[in-house]
Parts: sequence; C-alpha cells; structure tokens
Amino acid sequence: MGEREGEGEGEAVLFPFMAQGHIIPFIALAIELEKRKKYKKITIVNTCLNIKKIRSAIPENSSISLAEIPFNPAHHGLPPNTENTDNIPYNLVIRLIEASTTLKPAFTQLLLNIISQHKRKLIIIADIFFGWTASVAKELAVFHVIFSGCAGYGLACYYSLWLNLPHRHLHLQSNHQHFSLPDFPEARPIHLTQLPANISEADGTDAWSLFQQKNLTDWAYSDGLLFNTVQDLDSIGLAYFKRKLGLPAWPIGPLLLSAGSRGKGGGINPKLCTEWLNSKPSKSVLFVCFGSMNTISAPQMMQLGKALERSGKNFVWVVRPPIGFDINSEFRDEWLPLGFVERVRESGKGFIVHDWAPQVEILSHFAVSAFLSHCGWNSVLESLSAGVPLLGWPMAAEQFYNCKLLEEELGICVEVARGKSCEVKHEDIVAKIDLVMNETNEGIMMRKKAGDVRDLIRDAVTVRDEDGFKGSSVRAMDDFLSAAHSSNKLH
Ligand SMILES: *[C@@H]1O[C@H](CO)[C@@H](O)[C@H](O)[C@H]1NC(C)=O
Ligand SMILES: *[C@@H]1O[C@H](CO)[C@@H](O)[C@H](O)[C@H]1NC(C)=O
Ligand SMILES: *[C@@H]1O[C@H](CO)[C@@H](O)[C@H](O)[C@H]1NC(C)=O
Ligand SMILES: *[C@@H]1O[C@H](CO)[C@@H](O)[C@H](O)[C@H]1NC(C)=O
Repeated sequence: MGEREGEGEGEAVLFPFMAQGHIIPFIALAIELEKRKKYKKITIVNTCLNIKKIRSAIPENSSISLAEIPFNPAHHGLPPNTENTDNIPYNLVIRLIEASTTLKPAFTQLLLNIISQHKRKLIIIADIFFGWTASVAKELAVFHVIFSGCAGYGLACYYSLWLNLPHRHLHLQSNHQHFSLPDFPEARPIHLTQLPANISEADGTDAWSLFQQKNLTDWAYSDGLLFNTVQDLDSIGLAYFKRKLGLPAWPIGPLLLSAGSRGKGGGINPKLCTEWLNSKPSKSVLFVCFGSMNTISAPQMMQLGKALERSGKNFVWVVRPPIGFDINSEFRDEWLPLGFVERVRESGKGFIVHDWAPQVEILSHFAVSAFLSHCGWNSVLESLSAGVPLLGWPMAAEQFYNCKLLEEELGICVEVARGKSCEVKHEDIVAKIDLVMNETNEGIMMRKKAGDVRDLIRDAVTVRDEDGFKGSSVRAMDDFLSAAHSSNKLH
C-alpha cells in the first residue's frame, strides 16, 4: 500500500482529529477522492497508533498512503498508548485536544518535505479541531479546507455556542430555559438541556473555551469548508458558514464507509441478523443502537427494555454495558428487566446484539421501520440514505442539534430523550415508538417524508450520462476540486 500512485497531478493531504468518529468520514472522503482520480497521491496523516487502525480500514486495492507523525502521550499527562479519544476518560479529552496542537511542527515539516521532494501542488484537508492547520497552510501558500464529518446545521449551532456562550447571558432568576443563537437566529431556540456538558459549564476562561474560541476562529484563514451533508437537507447550516466566514461551503455527502471498513468486526454474524429480519413483515422492526462509543445509564436501560417489551413491536437492540461499567466488558442480563432476555427469545419479538451490528445492512432491510439513535451524523446519514425515520436520543456534542434539524426542520424524527442522565419513563418511550411506527397520520407522514429525503440524497449523488444531470453533491465536489486546482497558491 502507498507505493502505487494515482493518475492525476498534485497531492491531497488529509488530517483527521484522533477520534474514530472523525477518522471514519475522512477515510470515506479519501476513498471518494481516489475515485475522482484528480490527485497523484492521497495521504492520510496521523499519529502512530491511529495510523495502524486507519490502515486496517482502507480497502486493499486502494492506493491511499499513510504518513505518521510522532506523538508521545506521556509528554501531555496522558496515559501510555492513548492517542485516540475513544479509549480515554472524558475529562482527559480536552488534554488530547490541546496536545494535538503540538503536532504543528511535525505536520509543517511533513508538508515542507512533500513540497521540496515532489514539487507537486498540494491541498490540505483538515479536521474541524485543527483550525491551526489553516495558518500553517497560509504561511506555506497551500490550498486548505476544513472537512466536517458533521452536518452544517449541527456544526453551526456548536460553532455559534462556543463563540458566543449565549446561555451565560440568561437571567437565571427568570424561568427562561430557552435562548436563541445571536448570529444564527434561523435555528429555533435552544433549551439548556440541549447543551453538551462542556458548553454548559463553559464560562470563556476554562480550557475548552480557550481552545475552541481560538481554534474555531482560525477557520477564517482557510479557503473553504467541506461538509459530509447534502445541500437540500442542510441549506440553513451551510448558509450560516458562508455568511459567517465568507468562505465557500461545499456539501459533498453522504460519504459512508462500508461495514467491512468500520474497524469493528466483533458482535454478531451479519447473516444471522439478516435471517432474523427476513422472517419479519415489511416495516415492522425498530432498530435501536447508540453508536459505537455510547451507552445509556442503568435506569435508562431498564426503562428502554420495558418500553420495547410493552410496545409489542419487533426490535433489534445493540446493547452495551451501562454507564459506570467498562463499555468493552461482558454484557450482563441483569442490566435488563428480569426475564427480558428469555421472554424476547421465546416470543421471537426481539433480537439482542452485543456490542456491534451491521448497521447499514439492517437499516436498508425491508423489515426495518424506524431507528432509535443517538443522532451521530454518520448514523443519521445511514438512516436517511435508507429512508428510515428516527427516534432521537442525542447524548453529546452536536447530536442535540442533529436531532433538532431532523425534528423541527425536516419532520422525520421524534426526540425520545436527551442526554445520558435524564430520567425516562417507559410509557413515554412507548408512546413515541407508536407515534412513529403505527398507522397514525403522523407516522405515515413521517415515513413518507423520510422516503422523500432518501430520494433527495440519491439525486444528490447521481450522475446521468444521457442528459448530463449531476446531483448537488457531485457538483459541489467538482466545484471544490476546480477551486483547489485553479487557486493561485504557490504549492
Ligand atoms: C477496489 O475494489 C472495489 C470493489 O471491487 C471497487 O469498487 C473500487 O473501485 C476499487 N478501488 C480501486 C482504487 O481500484
Ligand atoms: C468537561 O466535561 C468533563 C466531564 O463532564 C469535566 O470533568 C470537565 O471539567 C469539563 N471541562 C470544562 C472546561 O468544563
Ligand atoms: C488552539 O488552542 C490551543 C490550546 O488552547 C492554543 O494553545 C493555540 O494557540 C490555539 N491555536 C490557535 C491557532 O489559535
Ligand atoms: C399502536 O399499535 C399497537 C398495535 O398495533 C396498539 O396496541 C397501540 O395501541 C397503538 N398505539 C397508538 C397510539 O395508536
């Protein structure tokens, strides 16, 4: 791998932040760029342990190359071998984020080597947490874009919240729990419970605020923004960035990785799952999964178990140990209602999967009707690409605003709960499952709209030779590549 080179000229250097949720869309983007054949070489840069993981996720026939830059976690007060947010406690995440800015000299040197050795035109595609790479690119006169694996809408809320901290100006004595975003009024008001912990606690002087406020504003030195999204789904968020930064925002999604490349292979045999789904009527199954990194609290898990049973619906549930237990430890049936596992097995109503399930295959199966999800953007794109409406249970980061977009703007989602510690009642969950899955007016409408969104996504990635039609995402990618090509940057 990495020895062969592609057909175009120039080299694209991709630099994702060290977290699986960031790395996956970057790999999907690298594969898409390879298909476009515009670059002679496509390189993904990261630290040693992450490079190992990325290598195993890249298809064998790919010519994408990998470049390592040195990083010593111990120098930053991080435990040994922690180069990725996925295996460190949340309170150390900010330390890893701060530590990542020390990659600057090594990253700069790597670019200088490419420039001096190959005399190729370069482009840099960097993570939303790597705003500092924009100033490096500017100094070296290299074309630079930020690539967001998140939707424009979710990221716009996140960006605006960090820069303005509007909840700090709420009058605490009044009962106002809602506030608007001062520079993003198109988004409807946000509730205090829709803030991730670190924004809710931020006061402008803490480590998170200092990092975000400096590094997010550095995007202004970039030449544009790429989003893993689709124009017609996400026009409000994309417009925010165009207005705010005066930069082009190119929606080139959905970029999705096939299951084999997702890194996780444990869990169940995909065939067993498909066989089980084959035995169920069309649009009768609820799929429940909170993404590969999340879980819920023990009481929430009990209530969700009760709700699934009471609803009487068929379900596939990907379970992981609740909060407070090692997420990679063996699952214990005692975390579910008494006798749940046996009853579900006997009735044939549910299929319980430990740890990992073939999500794309499940969502595109005819038997699946709805998806109870944490609303991570990769999961949302997978659901919408299959025309499956959602029940949202956002937990962290911009997931709250993805859920908001799906519910308020697109009408294809109902929020079930918010966060990892909120109180949930099984009766309420059942009512929402019924709302989306039953033959009620709302349910029918929501499923119809989800089908429309699927068609819209298909259109966005369509290229038709007969009449020369190109979908919005194809055109956005064309525009981006041509902007990079024709830029008057030196390298
Ligand atoms: C690799 O193989 C897959 C599946 O056969 C194909 O779709 C893809 O275009 C190939 N990629 C390259 C770079 O040849
Ligand atoms: C971020 O969140 C973690 C866990 O909730 C907390 O320990 C840490 O203090 C927070 N940091 C800031 C700056 O609020
Ligand atoms: C990004 O944040 C880090 C840590 O707070 C800070 O040291 C650095 O100066 C910031 N980078 C830029 C380019 O502002
Ligand atoms: C939804 O359908 C189930 C069975 O098909 C039924 O028991 C339940 O009462 C329905 N709920 C609503 C809100 O219509």
